[in-house]
Amino acid sequence: MKKVTLIAFCFIIGLYSMLCAQTLQNVYARHTISLNGQWQVIIDPFNAGAGNWKPVWKDQRPTGKSDFYEYAFTDAVTLKVPGDWNSQKPELKYYESTVWYKKTFTLKPKPGKRVFIYFGAVNYQCDVYFNNQLVGSHEGGFTPFQFEVTGKLRDTNSVIIRVNNQRKPDNIPAMNFDWWNYGGITRDVSIIETPESYIQDYNIQLAKNKSDIIAGWVQLNGSGNTSQPILIKIPELHVSYAAVTDANGKAWIHIPSSPVLWSPGNPKLYDVIITLSTDTVHDLIGFRNIEVKGTEILLNGKSVFLKGINIHEEVPQEARRAWSEADAEMLLHWAKELGCNFVRLTHYSHNEHIVRVADKLGIMLWEEVPLWQNIQFSNPAILNKADTMLKEMITRDKNRCSIILWSMSNETSPSVYRNRTITAMAEYVRSIDSTRLITSAINDAHIKDNTATIDDSLCIVLDVIGVNEYLGWYVPWSAKPEEMVWNSSYNKPLIMSEFGAESLYGNHGSADSNGYWAEEREAQVYKDQIAMFKNIPFLRGTCPWILADFRSETRLQPVYQQGWNRKGLLSDKGLKKKAWYVMHQFYEEMPD
Ligand code: GCU
Repeated sequence: MKKVTLIAFCFIIGLYSMLCAQTLQNVYARHTISLNGQWQVIIDPFNAGAGNWKPVWKDQRPTGKSDFYEYAFTDAVTLKVPGDWNSQKPELKYYESTVWYKKTFTLKPKPGKRVFIYFGAVNYQCDVYFNNQLVGSHEGGFTPFQFEVTGKLRDTNSVIIRVNNQRKPDNIPAMNFDWWNYGGITRDVSIIETPESYIQDYNIQLAKNKSDIIAGWVQLNGSGNTSQPILIKIPELHVSYAAVTDANGKAWIHIPSSPVLWSPGNPKLYDVIITLSTDTVHDLIGFRNIEVKGTEILLNGKSVFLKGINIHEEVPQEARRAWSEADAEMLLHWAKELGCNFVRLTHYSHNEHIVRVADKLGIMLWEEVPLWQNIQFSNPAILNKADTMLKEMITRDKNRCSIILWSMSNETSPSVYRNRTITAMAEYVRSIDSTRLITSAINDAHIKDNTATIDDSLCIVLDVIGVNEYLGWYVPWSAKPEEMVWNSSYNKPLIMSEFGAESLYGNHGSADSNGYWAEEREAQVYKDQIAMFKNIPFLRGTCPWILADFRSETRLQPVYQQGWNRKGLLSDKGLKKKAWYVMHQFYEEMPD
């Protein structure tokens, strides 16, 4: 095949699988059959099962006397889904390669119904076979995707998926990142049934900088979805709004209404009902405005200070990837107890449960795609991969009022390629969601003597600047904390998006020395940081790194770390360290 034809063919396949992977909005409100539970697995460290020699996806059984299949699924070897594989089997703790999963289920095809298989996330790359046919592939460990399987159903159906979490230089994230490389089907899996013509997607939020207009759109999918009447009801607001879809099956909405605005102090959510003749979807939606004005961040027109915390998607007590609503409730209640009104979901989009729980608890969120440090920005494929991750994250969460910031990156090194890529990402985000703020976390503030200067040109494209600085831990204080002066080349709000130090819970010692992981040292770093914060007039948020100790393959100090990054304010059992009380007092003493 000529090279040009081959490239075109690959592009079409890629586009098709991306289009097929366009997920339904609000999956949990649909008619679904959960495939959560035990899945049979085959551990395949050398990817032998993907070829034609031992094609696992064919799921063959011996028939003739000479037949035998070494790669065979059996109930004797299973993994729980959702769940990372690293925490389920000791031999998989550090495993970074392929695992094959298989699940069977019964579902008879019904006339007029469409059927999809939906994955909340699979880390990192996967190929999905439905009844032994490849229906699609996906790259990216932290966003949902789905494939249509209408017409492929049998009475008993099988899903086989090849999951691979190997690190690669052109992955996002790439080769070396400071969190555990949890592999597997890490979030919910469902079979979704819809009518032939259904409500695929919608965006229903307050119009930008308005408090009395609810605006957005509804997108149908299916034949005959043009000129279809739809109805949007918000009973508590006495709203019953009729619209008609256009030639693309899209209906635009513009509803005069003055809802009670969502805020941390009053996280008001409304039952929004979208009705089509053949389909109805309910969603709980909050209405609020977020904007910047000079160096202020305004929530519903009022200046707000973001009392934040960073969290990884992890349940430290069980050393596993978090995925459930209960996990989300635990992590966010820990944040509330600290006194937070803001959480940075680092360094990737977390599961949908935590975003919905934040809506209910009134916690504002920073959500991020995993462009972490050493990304291969000179590779043209990176922008396409990053935009796909942004699209999948924003498609899922654009109706979640708790999300106020989309973050493009974390600690990427300044370069022409990096600025060009992230500028293009920001432009793409603004083209699909103009209502939220855009940020990135940079770590190249210049610190000399008592002056810290923010002048990274990436800030030009940001609405809010995130700065990670570890004065007192990675960087010795170059002056008394209370004498530090911060300057910015940009008249924009600053969130100190990471700061902190390490300590091992219950380990005590000098408050002046880093080398012994003493709780007293971590607490002192926080006291010093707070002294510095009081002199930064354009500081509008603080996010300690991090809520709880978390697992990382790069943290191997044999006494104090043992595979854990110890910068938590909480231990890996959720116990409060001395630094927790320092930060709690800072937030408690701050006016709402
Ligand atoms: C960096 C990075 C984090 C990392 C932290 C640390 O700022 O953003 O992902 O865990 O520092 O070194 O502990």
